[in-house]
Amino acid sequence: MLIVLSIGGSILANELRPESFRGYASVLEQLAKEHRVIVVTGGGAAARDYISVARSTGANEVECDYIGIDITRLNAKLLISALADRAYPEPPSDYKKAQEALSSGKIVVMGGVIPGQTTDAVAAILTEYLSADLLVIATAVDGVYSADPRKDPAAIKYETMSAKQLVNTVMATEMKAGSKSPVDPLAAKIIERCNIETIVMEGSDPTNVYDVVLKESNKENDKKVVHRGTRITS
Ligand code: UTP
Repeated sequence: MLIVLSIGGSILANELRPESFRGYASVLEQLAKEHRVIVVTGGGAAARDYISVARSTGANEVECDYIGIDITRLNAKLLISALADRAYPEPPSDYKKAQEALSSGKIVVMGGVIPGQTTDAVAAILTEYLSADLLVIATAVDGVYSADPRKDPAAIKYETMSAKQLVNTVMATEMKAGSKSPVDPLAAKIIERCNIETIVMEGSDPTNVYDVVLKESNKENDKKVVHRGTRITS
């Protein structure tokens, strides 16, 4: 299988610790023995801090996005370091270069590409562009909820949902100030438009990601329920 894995900055690099990068590197090495893998890393706290300072000093939103992209690429470089020669040596700067890099047979790790989106959208677009079999969004929450569970105790978690439901849920969550959904609206729209098989899951422990991919690749297993996650179907 060709797998696109989006690793949220909030789980990989909220605190910059070598263990987080080593943990993912070791799981990716295992996965790459059986699958082709392309990883998109998020920005995390550093991206937010840099963007906040840039905004305060007068940068416009597109300039802030470029700074965010640089941080996502720095996180990609840290993961590449942890993977050593198992990884393609540079984060590709666009989707076409990512496709070329994949033909090296190495694990490809990249960050953001253009302003106006987040790395979830990069991962969704890559999945469609490369005709990947599966998109896994590893994030800080254990799936998609009907509302932000930190703000609404009545929020319920979806075990499975359609892409259309995902779009509606994400839009409703995003409308409330300060709320943050595990999938950004553009990514949700792309997942819907392209019928992308997607799993949104809690990814602070990379071995959970390994287990989910293993289960997905074993066609005989009952794949309906994703441990600590939500399955999005077309
Ligand atoms: P992230 O995708 O990491 O966004 O990119 P995030 O909301 O901080 O998500 P977490 O924390 O990883 O879960 C960081 C910032 O980089 C810019 C955006 O400003 C984004 O908020 N960015 C990223 C882009 O402009 N384009 C991209 O393709 C990717």
